[in-house]
Amino acid sequence: MNNSSITKTLGVCYYPEHWPEEDWKDDAGKMVELGITYVRIGEFAWSRLEPKRGTYKFDWLKRAIDILHEAGLKVVLGTPTATPPRWLVDEMPDMLPVNKDGNIRNFGSRRHYTFSHGGYRVECARIVTALANKFGSHPGIAAWQTDNEFDCHDTTLSFSPVDLAAFQNWLGQKYQSPDALNRAWGNVFWSMEIDDFSQIMLPNQTVTEANPAHWMDYRSFASDMVAEFNKLQTDILRKLSPDRDIIHNFMGRTLAFDHFKVGADLDISSWDSYPLGFLEDRSDRSEDFKREYSRAGDPDFQAFHHDLYRATSNGRWWVMEQQPGPVNWAPHNPAPRDGMVRLWALEAFAHGAETVSYFRWRQAPFAQEQMHSGLLRSNSEEAEGYGEASAVAEDMKKIDFGKLDDAPVAIIFDYASSWAWQTQPQGREFDYFRLVFDFYKGLRAKGLTVDFLPSNTDDLSPYSLVLIPGLFTFENELKAALAKFTGQVLIGPRSGSKTASFSIPDALPPDLGNTLLDMKITRVESLRSDCLIRVGSGSFKYWREFASVGKDAKVSLSGDDGQPALITQQNYSYLCGWPDEVLLDEVLEGLCKKAKLSTIDLPEGLRIVSNHGKHFVFNYSNQTHDFSKTVKGTLIYGDERIFPSGFAIVDASAI
Ligand code: GAL
Repeated sequence: MNNSSITKTLGVCYYPEHWPEEDWKDDAGKMVELGITYVRIGEFAWSRLEPKRGTYKFDWLKRAIDILHEAGLKVVLGTPTATPPRWLVDEMPDMLPVNKDGNIRNFGSRRHYTFSHGGYRVECARIVTALANKFGSHPGIAAWQTDNEFDCHDTTLSFSPVDLAAFQNWLGQKYQSPDALNRAWGNVFWSMEIDDFSQIMLPNQTVTEANPAHWMDYRSFASDMVAEFNKLQTDILRKLSPDRDIIHNFMGRTLAFDHFKVGADLDISSWDSYPLGFLEDRSDRSEDFKREYSRAGDPDFQAFHHDLYRATSNGRWWVMEQQPGPVNWAPHNPAPRDGMVRLWALEAFAHGAETVSYFRWRQAPFAQEQMHSGLLRSNSEEAEGYGEASAVAEDMKKIDFGKLDDAPVAIIFDYASSWAWQTQPQGREFDYFRLVFDFYKGLRAKGLTVDFLPSNTDDLSPYSLVLIPGLFTFENELKAALAKFTGQVLIGPRSGSKTASFSIPDALPPDLGNTLLDMKITRVESLRSDCLIRVGSGSFKYWREFASVGKDAKVSLSGDDGQPALITQQNYSYLCGWPDEVLLDEVLEGLCKKAKLSTIDLPEGLRIVSNHGKHFVFNYSNQTHDFSKTVKGTLIYGDERIFPSGFAIVDASAI
């Protein structure tokens, strides 16, 4: 995968409508002074752009764009569809989303719409068209952002009558006949058969669990609604504002919609990176770990999303919102350790980001986010983040991050698998993100750089090692790519354990055919987190599978109860459980040897990303590390005794 651009730039998120107009010029001048190139504006401004139906007030936005442009800045204009104004909600109250318990989610914050509402889509098309007509060819507009953070505040799934009608229609198109749906879902079970699509309900308010196939189709439908909603806007923008990049800002650990599908309609994927908020708010790490890294963030979480989102739009990606200081929305909101705001940006660039844009320019003294820091304090003094952004601007003058090359290792990532295991976890801890993140952390601890690939990948040839954890079903393209692949592959646990319509495959998992893997999974068990199965030098935790192994495959590792744990046939291996850190390391070490991949055992908290023979080294830990013996090569930036929050570059091309 190649990154088409190697020019790196800084950006900032700005809300001209929050500040007196006489300040805009000074703000723009100061942004330029700081080294900012891109300014994202407008994404929540609908009530100021159209205070009444059809009364457009675009003049203030024009003046803001002119000022930014004249100062030499490039504008990313957001479409305001994440915040429909009150008058619009009054006109069509059934556009409001409904939560799983059947309660309406009301006006008064943001994201108060359901993606499937036809009338709301028409309104979005109208405001996007009006904005694109007005600003589409303005020389200051460099790019567009569609909406803001799809799924933020859990808004992909909605359970209103409008969603029900759209779901019935979606099912009608997919299955054509109620009978086909009955067969695919297995509705004979518990007399769930229907004879008209209008009899299908949403799966949220059943007496006990709804059919998992019902949930899976509902999840795919909801994901498709997001992709359609985004595409409606990108189609308009492409037509009316040609040659401008179209971007959306994704979030961290958000799996409710298929980002590959949305990304296919974008030029650039971006995401909003809040390392400290995420560690507090959406991490499975232990309390000790969270305490240790509370001012730095998880050393693998940001990198994971950089690598994942890079894959969703063909290699071009940004950080649209970068945490600049304490945020307001996590259970605790500590200040970053000195140097971390700089490190996060440099890390993103090393993973191929074209732009890192800080959220936000100035702290707002009013409303919901008044406790969220900015680069400036609410009184316009420079905040701590300002100095760090300025240090990044200096670094950028000296560092060549290079064009990003393919990584040696790839992980298949699949959103539908996450819905599958949420629908049927079978054991409380079985969470797809957690499983894939464990594999990713295992690779990173060995100094390996990773790419993600979607589940319909048809070419694995650039890679030496491919990991496929927890993939619920194998698509034909991937099966064909695997059959041709000569590198090492690690499959499982739980991969290929369902058909596309969520049944157990006739041949039993992993259902890849005997020529690839002559084995089948005959029984599975989920485990309490304090019940481990010893395997090699480590253990299986949470999940273990029992396998029957055919003549062409061999058992490479067994549990201490004698059951197969790792099964190998030529270059394919199947892992019959969820490995702990030690076991995963042992398995990966073996596979890396076979794949002739050199590894570096990094101390916890020290992380690298490698590109064209250069290692970019980041210290998330609270300790100073001397890495000269671990990361070999010639130091070309920074210091070998790397301080907490430190950054260095080692040239290893001669090794
Ligand atoms: C993001 C969002 C921004 C702002 C920010 C606060 O999720 O896109 O609008 O709310 O969080 O951290």
